[in-house]
Amino acid sequence: PEEQTFALIRPDAAKTHKDEIMKKVKEAGFSISKIKEQALTREMAAEFYKDHEGKPFFEQLVDCMAQGPSVIMVLSKENAVEEWRQLMGPTDPEEAKKTCPESIRAQFAHDILSNAVHGSSNLEHAQRSIQFAFGELDAD
Ligand code: CMP
Repeated sequence: PEEQTFALIRPDAAKTHKDEIMKKVKEAGFSISKIKEQALTREMAAEFYKDHEGKPFFEQLVDCMAQGPSVIMVLSKENAVEEWRQLMGPTDPEEAKKTCPESIRAQFAHDILSNAVHGSSNLEHAQRSIQFAFGELDAD
């Protein structure tokens, strides 16, 4: 079934590789249902990465996400959550270069922390992040 995922080009890549990443998004057959450019607040960054709260890199991760404008999107496609994760590739670009050389992280990520793109890990997180970034004020 058609699915929506939450996807984001992180500040490190939004500056330098936005057009190339958007080209890959379109070539992979995603529809861009919503898109905006916005610098995240630290609060928003912490929400998107709440699963990683408490990890040693969490503060750095949040800083890195709030350092400049991101490209924030809702992508639609069959199996969108999983397909976007595959297009991003593994978290660590060094691993991505070996195992998924066509992936966004293999081609455009700087290192494991500044790794070019974000994507939701499951449908529930996707819906929460979409609501958080674009949402109307629905009660939940
Ligand atoms: P992602 O997998 O999309 O979501 C969690 C993020 O935390 C990950 O991308 C990296 O940006 C960051 N991250 C994960 N593991 C590490 C690590 N070992 N060192 C630094 N940053 C990390």
